[in-house]
Amino acid sequence: MAFSRCLACMEKLSPGTSVCPSCGSPVPCPPNSPDSLPPGFVLEKYIIGREISRGGSSITYRAFDRQLETVRCIKEFYPLFSRRRRDMSVYPMPGEEPRFQRELAHFQREAQLLSALSDRHVARIADVCDKLDMNGSSYVVMEYLDGSTLDTYIRSLKHGLPWESARDIMVSVMDTVSSIHQQGILHRDISLNNIFLLRDGSVRLIDFGSAETMDTAQRFSEAAWPSSKKFYSPPEQVLCRSQGPGTDVYAAGVCMFKLVAGGFPHDWKAGMPLPSLRSLGFSVPPLYDQVISRATQPEREKRYATAAEMLRALKAIAFPPPAPPPKAPPQPHTYKTILWIIVLLSFVSIFLIWRGLQGSSVPDGGQSLSQQSESVSREPDASVAFTMETPAPSNGLKNHLIPGLTDAFPADFPDLKPAEPPQLGREEY
Ligand SMILES: Nc1ncnc2c1ncn2[C@@H]1O[C@H](COP(=O)(O)OP(=O)(O)OP(=O)(O)O)[C@@H](O)[C@H]1O
Ligand SMILES: [Mg+2]
Repeated sequence: MAFSRCLACMEKLSPGTSVCPSCGSPVPCPPNSPDSLPPGFVLEKYIIGREISRGGSSITYRAFDRQLETVRCIKEFYPLFSRRRRDMSVYPMPGEEPRFQRELAHFQREAQLLSALSDRHVARIADVCDKLDMNGSSYVVMEYLDGSTLDTYIRSLKHGLPWESARDIMVSVMDTVSSIHQQGILHRDISLNNIFLLRDGSVRLIDFGSAETMDTAQRFSEAAWPSSKKFYSPPEQVLCRSQGPGTDVYAAGVCMFKLVAGGFPHDWKAGMPLPSLRSLGFSVPPLYDQVISRATQPEREKRYATAAEMLRALKAIAFPPPAPPPKAPPQPHTYKTILWIIVLLSFVSIFLIWRGLQGSSVPDGGQSLSQQSESVSREPDASVAFTMETPAPSNGLKNHLIPGLTDAFPADFPDLKPAEPPQLGREEY
């Protein structure tokens, strides 16, 4: 039976549809990059869809599990030094066979690590659903995450996030990092590119391509898979020295900075202490800066010793006390009472004046009194306007929390404006 779904978004299509009503993609789906698997390619029980991303060692696709009728994400091992045959199998370029085999084994280990973590129910990672070794390559099938990486999200905003949102994100991330460490694994590639923001506002840590067991990473040796990312990697990682929990702590501190600042200062180089956000004009509590400063110390011993310790410090960054409730405006019934007194007094005055002037005819005076009474009768409207314009008592942080970010993504995510961000470099690695 023909596959009657849009290969871009995997939603069902009615026969004869030329544009997908769900995602607007043309039907049939446009091709992927020339050397990627084409949309519609069958990989056992999975149908390959749109290419999501291409990295140095893999290509990521949206896919569909025909048995479970679920959208999946498939990451294919496809390093830069490989090519694809007509039957879509993958082979190394001439002379690259040993390297290909080494990196393939590393890719398969990433899948194993990730599925071991999924099996042990480490929350907030993309669960591995399946692993395939075929076509001369290897494939990891993961739950499909609907959203975007934080890096992409911040670029779309063109500024950082309010510190409260950044803190909430980092609490989730460090909670996950802490449980990964407890399982004896270092991530070693924590960056805004590898933190995924879902539509519901929750976050997931992805990309375990550089992960190592603590044992391997702690030993000073090249046995640890060489990996470092500009800006995010601490000196011991760049220099391929002994690594430990502090290595992930450093990268997390850099994430905290970039989440609020939206970029890095032009004159800052990784390994130098990051300037305080407050000194750059960002409105953050002093403790937020202090956590970044401690996490990003060049010497590992000066950082938080564990992810759990950094998590506690993050949780201790207090939200400001709720704004005092605005001074209550006079209640409408007070105005009504005043109005009635004024109206009554007006009548009494009119009566007294009328009595005093009885017998004489003063038409102009009568006219002016009625105008006076009319002007008094406008008072209640004014009071209503005042009541409505009075600001509602602040509900404090709720306005800044992540669920508010995520009604839709990315174009229609609400644009949360940080307090007057200064212009920073937006260099990327
Ligand atoms: N489970 C998932 N669901 C949806 N999209 C995903 C998922 N995992 C990864 N992605 C997307 O694919 C992109 C690349 O994934 P990942 O970070 O794992 O690989 P990479 O950095 O390109 O890989 P490598 O470093 O191996 O070349 C991510 O930035 C994200 O946009
Ligand atoms: Mg990545």
